[in-house]
Amino acid sequence: MSHLLPLSRVTKLVGISRHALQEMIRSGALDTFDGMVDLNELLRAFPDTRWEDDAEYRRVTEIKEKAFGKRVFERALPDKEVLSARLIELGNEYAAAKALLMHYSQTLSWLDEKIDEIEEEGQSRETRNALHRLRAFIVRHLAEMPPDAAKVQAVIAQERILRIMSAQVTIQPSGHEFTVEGNDTLLEGALRAGVSLNYGCSNGNCGECRARLISGEVKKVHAHDYVLSQAEKDAGVILMCSCAAVNDVVIEAGVAGAKDIPEQQLEARVKAVEVFNPQVAALHLLAPRSQRLHFLAGQSIRLSAQDASGEYAVASCPCEERHIEIQISRKPDDAFAELLFGGLKAQDIVEVTGPYGEFVLEDDSTRPLIFVAFGVGFAPVKSLVQHAMSLDLAESIDLHWLADEAGHYQNNLCRAWADALDNFTYIPHAQTSDAETALAGIVRDYPDLQRFDVYAVGNAAQLKIARDLFLKQGLQEQYWREYVC
Ligand code: FES
Repeated sequence: MSHLLPLSRVTKLVGISRHALQEMIRSGALDTFDGMVDLNELLRAFPDTRWEDDAEYRRVTEIKEKAFGKRVFERALPDKEVLSARLIELGNEYAAAKALLMHYSQTLSWLDEKIDEIEEEGQSRETRNALHRLRAFIVRHLAEMPPDAAKVQAVIAQERILRIMSAQVTIQPSGHEFTVEGNDTLLEGALRAGVSLNYGCSNGNCGECRARLISGEVKKVHAHDYVLSQAEKDAGVILMCSCAAVNDVVIEAGVAGAKDIPEQQLEARVKAVEVFNPQVAALHLLAPRSQRLHFLAGQSIRLSAQDASGEYAVASCPCEERHIEIQISRKPDDAFAELLFGGLKAQDIVEVTGPYGEFVLEDDSTRPLIFVAFGVGFAPVKSLVQHAMSLDLAESIDLHWLADEAGHYQNNLCRAWADALDNFTYIPHAQTSDAETALAGIVRDYPDLQRFDVYAVGNAAQLKIARDLFLKQGLQEQYWREYVC
């Protein structure tokens, strides 16, 4: 009997990135069937995995939780109704498997009796010998466990735990796949996985997150005020911000690009002002419960408070629910920056408008990524790096941070990312007055730049030098993306 596993669950079971798994499929090292992997094929392709020992998986998870502040790898239990529905489903599977085993056992007893009867009927010596050998074969075969039985048992046990804690979601027609962990709704799961689905309020009022359930089962875990028509309900329409997946589901839903997200206005509260040093500070805002900001990593927003305003790139990831982080460098002509360093305090109201810009990730690209951040240009890069990590599709992610007088003010965070992820490399570059020499040194390390996507943030002069050098070294023009700050 075949036991098929979805790809996103396989990545968790064997502890490799989605990119690495897809490379194996492309090269023929791993066979799939309708986008699923057979259990026996998994054991063949990963013969050295110690399925019964998840110590290494736990160690890596601990490093990741530390690097991402428990945010992305939260391990909360599912909603209690979802949990009980999943347990009932597993219980039913167990009962069906047990009934099947009982049936096989009875069939064997019946076969045994039948052989006795035939023997007693005084068949020929050859027939009796053949029946005797058949009985001996069956008894011996049943007594011997296949050599891989312990491994199969361990994989199935781990897969069952994953199925209790999470569910796989496939979005049609885009083909995006992600897992919904803990008590996340479908929308929260998508945002954590870096998949930008259409949505508005995120709390059941606007109906923008309507989607059609094609297969699987969902449960409403948050009440919603938006009223679905009877025709919509009959067609399987659900609100993704209100529903959690009970089991693996396929959903028809729209994926939003930068141009699809409308301008929004909301009043956020200051959660904290984090002063890194006299030149740079981060403003941490909390959007109201009823109006989360819909944006893509790399976009910017306009902030206004106490007669001061300014437009800045968002430094946080859209996966961070209501939290919005902005990093601002102190400049004499920037009144909002002065307010941030001088007067803004927790609980103050800041008006947020946006998002703006198209400096966003090519989210289905599997090409290796290079990020180049000059000074506080690190802010949008931070958001993009976290988005790329959530998508887990890029072959590798290299971050080059060229410091200005503010230094590498989030050095520890970048080092923690490098510790947590095998395919992430952090290369800090000291402040220099000769950006051209520093950049020439960077591009020299990439003799095969035509394979890469490059995202760069800095002032116009810095970006011009960087762009010329990268293109000269072989980067294709359409894979150069820049944001002037
Ligand atoms: S996002 Fe508004 S109802 Fe779901």
